[in-house]
Amino acid sequence: MPVQQILDAILAGDTAPEEFAALPLPDTYKGITVHKDEVEMFAGLASRDKDPRKSLHLDDVPVPELAPGEALVAVMASAINYNTVWTSIFEPVSTFSFLERYGRLSEYTKRHDLPYHVVGSDLAGVVLRTGPGVNAWKPGAEVVAHCLSVELESPDGHDDTMMDPQQRIWGFETNFGGLAQLAIVKSNQLLPKPDHLTWEEAASPGLVNATAYRQLVSKNGAHMKQGDVVLIWGASGGLGSYATQMALNGGAIPVCVVSSPEKAEIVRSLGAQHVIDRSAEGYTFWKDENTQDPKEWQRFGKKIRELTGGEDPDIVFEHPGRETFGASVYVARKGGTIITCASTSGYMHQYDNRYLWMNLKNIKSSHFANYREAFEANRLIDKGLIHPTLSRVYSLEETGQAALDVHHNLHQGKVGVLCLAPEEGLGVRDEAKRAQFLTEINRFRGI
Ligand SMILES: NC(=O)c1ccc[n+]([C@@H]2O[C@H](COP(=O)([O-])OP(=O)(O)OC[C@H]3O[C@@H](n4cnc5c(N)ncnc54)[C@H](OP(=O)(O)O)[C@@H]3O)[C@@H](O)[C@H]2O)c1
Repeated sequence: MPVQQILDAILAGDTAPEEFAALPLPDTYKGITVHKDEVEMFAGLASRDKDPRKSLHLDDVPVPELAPGEALVAVMASAINYNTVWTSIFEPVSTFSFLERYGRLSEYTKRHDLPYHVVGSDLAGVVLRTGPGVNAWKPGAEVVAHCLSVELESPDGHDDTMMDPQQRIWGFETNFGGLAQLAIVKSNQLLPKPDHLTWEEAASPGLVNATAYRQLVSKNGAHMKQGDVVLIWGASGGLGSYATQMALNGGAIPVCVVSSPEKAEIVRSLGAQHVIDRSAEGYTFWKDENTQDPKEWQRFGKKIRELTGGEDPDIVFEHPGRETFGASVYVARKGGTIITCASTSGYMHQYDNRYLWMNLKNIKSSHFANYREAFEANRLIDKGLIHPTLSRVYSLEETGQAALDVHHNLHQGKVGVLCLAPEEGLGVRDEAKRAQFLTEINRFRGI
């Protein structure tokens, strides 16, 4: 059984690169898919009632041919990202439209346009094969992968690769993603796996950590500096749990918004001093579907000032979107930046522009990260300056349930998925380094 042989080689821990290169590949592998003939299955249902357990399947799919510049990776663990929730509920559009468009680009990208979509935008695992033109990575390398897929044939992407016209998110806008036993990535997605982490811990920060890094820290994002007051929505969630750590690490002052006492406790344990429980405070920024309530923005702003000693946020770390955006624009300080990377609660935002222009505030967008930013974000994990926020781990078979938890906001931090790894706790190569950070690594576990 080639899959078992691959797993045995990884678990042995001392398999030579030549031995990895010589391992036979299976004809098929198990992966989490959505099916093209099911994109209408939830028609007419409210978003909340669309159940990822019904649309995400565990299928045996053929191992694709490797194209130039690519690597085939044996995936030990992956993680749930909100993009898998979007894919599984076919909102705001079915991801098959992305695969069709990508498929039209070239002979090689045609492979992606299939009646099934293997999803997932994070992985930790081992390189098994590399395609022509790959020199920097060899079979046997223990890796994590960031999710930026670019072609770089146009000049536009050569300053900041996020600007490539053919920029895609791997496992969302491309096929052969990480929620599977095997995955195909471009070799310029690969990063060294932090050696003090287990497979599932190493797989969990990837997408959100790099996104938060660009959005908050990078010069392409809000370029946070010491002393900045940073309002962080969803501060114990995927993005927010990394943004909170980065704010604290970078000498900024996070004001963390969460929705329960448990979540408030988590962000306090990270070191945040200013925490707002939006449920306890009962903010209703919208009076009805079409009308916002500026009095509620004011009440929220007052609360922030109470906590900060009268200061307004230099940066608002935005992603909930429609529900919060009006408040975010209102509470940002004069000249402050509202940096947005998402619209979980709705993408048609509404805000009072008078507060923006009269106070010279900026709204800036951010989306994932370029290779350099993803590398820097992964380096922070490797150095123990930022830690994984893994709370629960599911088996590959249970991916639908894991995605439902995230869809219904029942999770904390990140939710992991074991792919080839037979159990949690494997893959640590530097126990002494791990011992230094054990409390931080385990902070979100089991909550
Ligand atoms: N552009 C990119 O590159 C990129 C990358 C990663 C993620 N995203 C997007 O960013 C969003 C968040 O991702 P994530 O991984 O952080 O998800 P997550 O783990 O679900 O965390 C989001 C948090 O936002 C808060 N939240 C949700 N709805 C809210 C609302 N209506 N008002 C206020 N707060 C709300 C929740 O915290 P509380 O309930 O505790 O307040 C939740 O924990 C998703 O839409 C995702 O697709 C975009």
